[in-house]
Amino acid sequence: MAKITTSSLLNMKQQGKKISTITAYDASFAKLFDQAGIHAILIGDSLGMVLQGQDSTLPVTIEEMAYHTRCVKRGVEETLIIADMPFMSYATKEQALTNAALLMQAGASMIKVEGGAWLNDTISALVERGIPVCAHLGLTPQSVNIFGGFKVQGRDDDKAHKMVDDAKALEAAGAQLLVLECIPSTLGKTITKTLSIPTIGIGAGKDTDGQILVMHDALGIACNYMPKFSRNFLKDTGDIKKAVELYISEVSQGNFPGDEHIFK
Ligand code: KIV
Repeated sequence: MAKITTSSLLNMKQQGKKISTITAYDASFAKLFDQAGIHAILIGDSLGMVLQGQDSTLPVTIEEMAYHTRCVKRGVEETLIIADMPFMSYATKEQALTNAALLMQAGASMIKVEGGAWLNDTISALVERGIPVCAHLGLTPQSVNIFGGFKVQGRDDDKAHKMVDDAKALEAAGAQLLVLECIPSTLGKTITKTLSIPTIGIGAGKDTDGQILVMHDALGIACNYMPKFSRNFLKDTGDIKKAVELYISEVSQGNFPGDEHIFK
């Protein structure tokens, strides 16, 4: 497999090929996922929950994100590395520039930020300075206290229309990838058809350009908890590399997510 870039992901969307992505936080898993052929690895701030045992992603710091990005970078040869900007590390444009630089210098090739059109100026400033941006809409976990819990977003018409407008604004500002989390599958389809950039869904239906899972969910090691939108690929294979290969093949053939994994 050749080195994956943001252009490779755009080509995949244009050719109708599905993109498979997964989270990783250390070199060993990153190497295994890279060798299995995953298209992108996200060092998610989900590490606050799955590694640190916190009840949200809010306590995660930029230093912790940079540390795990350095670890992942050492395991990867070809996969695109995306690193999450943690809570309040991009509250102002200046903070975003300083903190995104730390993650890029740690080994990321793209950073991810959560939120809608309020991020336009920040995204333009990052892109102008050579930092590719993945945006994130829907259930953005850093806003869990505004949402009143980890709940499906965009079910009302007003909120769905606003999400479509936000998605267009983020693309216009320069975002090159968009994660859509926990939204009705029809909304995932509408946003995917509206945008030229690839969409990556997690609980956003079958019609996004790709899928992402938290590795602990995909391997069924998340302490007896399996979100509705996930599947335990390790149970089906009994081997971690084969589990990730199965995930990639199920995504590329359109078999994952199944009807049981989507929100209406
Ligand atoms: O932090 C994370 O792992 C994420 C994914 C769930 C998309 O943002």
